[in-house]
Amino acid sequence: MFTWVLGFGSIVAATIIYKLFKLISRPSLPLPPGPRPWPIIGNLPHMGPMPHQGLAALALKHGPLMHLRMGFVDVIVAASASVAEQFLKVHDVNFSSRPPNSGAKYMAYNYQDLVFAPYGPQWRLRRKISSVHLFSGKALDNFTHLRQEEVGRLTSNLASCGSKVVNLGQLLNVCTTNALARVMIGRRVFNDGNGGFDPKADEFKCMVVELMVLAGALNIGDFIPALEWLDIQGLQAKMKKLHNKFDAFLTNIIEEHKVSRSEKHQDMLSTLLSLKDVPEDGGKLAEIEIKALLLNMFAAGTDTSSSTTEWAIAELIKNPNIRAKLQQELDSVVGRDRLVTEADLAHLPYLEAVVKETFRLHPSTPLSLPRVASESCEVFGYHIPKGATLLVNVWAIARDPNEWHNPLEFKPERFLPGGEKANVDVKGNDFEVIPFGAGRRICVGLSLGLRVVQLLTATLAHAFDWELENGLNPEKLNMDEAFGLTLQRAVPLSVHPRPRLSPHVYSS
Ligand code: HEM
Repeated sequence: MFTWVLGFGSIVAATIIYKLFKLISRPSLPLPPGPRPWPIIGNLPHMGPMPHQGLAALALKHGPLMHLRMGFVDVIVAASASVAEQFLKVHDVNFSSRPPNSGAKYMAYNYQDLVFAPYGPQWRLRRKISSVHLFSGKALDNFTHLRQEEVGRLTSNLASCGSKVVNLGQLLNVCTTNALARVMIGRRVFNDGNGGFDPKADEFKCMVVELMVLAGALNIGDFIPALEWLDIQGLQAKMKKLHNKFDAFLTNIIEEHKVSRSEKHQDMLSTLLSLKDVPEDGGKLAEIEIKALLLNMFAAGTDTSSSTTEWAIAELIKNPNIRAKLQQELDSVVGRDRLVTEADLAHLPYLEAVVKETFRLHPSTPLSLPRVASESCEVFGYHIPKGATLLVNVWAIARDPNEWHNPLEFKPERFLPGGEKANVDVKGNDFEVIPFGAGRRICVGLSLGLRVVQLLTATLAHAFDWELENGLNPEKLNMDEAFGLTLQRAVPLSVHPRPRLSPHVYSS
């Protein structure tokens, strides 16, 4: 009882102080337009179960530059290419940090990671080390064979499932996680049905899923700081518990690597550990930062790629003419006697267009990752307050009818020569399609993510014809979205894979 009285008292006191502060520090320019906030909770109820869709609907009414209030936090939403460009290009430096949040505090080693680190020298060092040692063209090429092996393994498993129906998203997630784990830590972490695997793998899988759920949850304490200590939803307690499990798992992996260092592990963790001894550019990567980086990579680099590929295959099933055109390209470039390799990707322009179109309609992080205004600034004549959280609705921007002809239609041709967006790419240069974000904090794993989605989509389209469960008509395929931290399909894709290449291809 006492706790609740104290909690209520804290809210009332905080509300009065907040209102007084706003009154005194009112700027001369107006805030961007937006829906009227409720007392205390502000616009939290306006977010709805699918925030990217709810915010897109609000933008139709209030415009592509909106202001909302979530509890005591100002939130700015960008919902057009030109508004996004203002924040991520013109004012990029001012928006290069992420807002404080309990996920970063309790699960990402108190901001000692890359995803949530404040913009500054520590972030710069972690980003540089990742870009050079993990994601440069050379680093990626060194591990091509591992990714291809894991994709080959997935293909064999799919071919051997006979008349059984498969949950494609699940198998894709196992594949992307094992491929990343082999590159990062030198071994698989998930069972893929062939037996003989690490018994800790299933536990690890549950941990990653829980991390995504907790990171995606709206924690009231993040928006009403006076209530943080109460942990009303119990989220912080769950985060701390999960963090301890991850920490034990990651510490174990690092200790394993230290012991077997003489065996010269050829993986990224070994490279990171060697940098601990030989500092780079005067900066030293502490062991806790290495753990935080590993955690980031597993969380940010697996589900994003697998769910995008699942959407790509769903679109190809729904659009048989596009699938036939893609298979024609693959057959003529690769033939029917081997699987696609990463070296083939540069010669597959239609595949590239199919993948771009998938990223446009189904961006895996539809509200990107939030940024925060380090200083107040002016955008298109509006006042953007210091400390405001910026959400870029990349999902809404990529469906904006002012930018795209028939935006809801899946039409890869729009990215081919002669199409409306022939020279547009998804790498943060063209603001009408920015699935990886843009500016200084653009996705550091962009090249890897793009390669993996292209390789998987090409392989699955080339090696199989796909039929829906219970002979469902492809036109009736449910394309609804479910929102987690990443954009999942509401109904998982249940399919029958029908091999279409020479039989020996599947046994290798
Ligand atoms: C389909 C694939 C992927 C998509 C769509 C995607 C999307 C994104 C987005 C939207 C951001 C925020 C960018 C911003 O603030 O402007 C981001 C950041 C990040 N991504 Fe990715 N990502 C993908 C794959 C990967 C992979 C494979 C990795 C690593 C293995 C990765 C690691 C990261 C990290 C560490 C950050 C934080 C960068 C920073 O704050 O400096 N991502 N990603």
